[in-house]
Amino acid sequence: VIMIQEALKALRRGEIVLVFDADNRERETDMIVAAEKIKPEHIRIMRNDAGGLICVPVSWENSEKLGIPYMTDIMEEASGRYPVLGKLSPHDIPYDEKSAFSITVNHRKTFTGITDNDRALTIGELAGICRDDRHESFGDLFRSPGHVTLLRAADGHVLRRGGHTEMSIALMEMAGLTGVAVCCEMMDDRTGNSLSTEDAMKYAREHDLIFMSGAELIESYMEFRS
Ligand code: 5RP
Ligand code: CA
Ligand code: ZN
Repeated sequence: VIMIQEALKALRRGEIVLVFDADNRERETDMIVAAEKIKPEHIRIMRNDAGGLICVPVSWENSEKLGIPYMTDIMEEASGRYPVLGKLSPHDIPYDEKSAFSITVNHRKTFTGITDNDRALTIGELAGICRDDRHESFGDLFRSPGHVTLLRAADGHVLRRGGHTEMSIALMEMAGLTGVAVCCEMMDDRTGNSLSTEDAMKYAREHDLIFMSGAELIESYMEFRS
């Protein structure tokens, strides 16, 4: 209980929190931060200290309002014209039934889109239009493909799928923040694998960050919703 309250406070202050999913899933710890609090510095830390793919979980509600599909649905639709897209179906991912990947975007005011400044701009502006309920301006303000990968949260969120996508959104909801987040997997520079839970916890201690397990997070969310 204390842990979750501290995590929510940290997120409201624009700090990063670390979330390990589960031993029976990816076994990965993601850095998570609120999209509406994003600064270039967060991108720099995620690139250098996490090193995975910087992604933007979007709540189911915001995804619906923006009209963003799952990448798998786009590929299936396009497979009539490009049969290879049908053959590439990710039906065999080993840790979950479905990938959360949606489209990639850049804000139209970015240059290449990849710099820390550009990615923070893209992410912050996306959070802004969702917060202000200006979803209809999405296509005017953003272009695709881009350098920020959107993840579509499952309908029912964490109660339906225990991914970092849904856990990020559950944190935003509990913190009273806009349902758009940023996450990045923590990698191990020495082994070539994901960072172990022990090392992720060590990183949290050394950088004074909250570390949570998915089980703790989901339990807190169930209490929050009941
Ligand atoms: C995108 C990913 C990450 O694992 C990210 O944590 C989101 O995926 P999931 O919701 O499946 O955990 O694959 O880099
Ligand atoms: Ca993954
Ligand atoms: Zn993940």
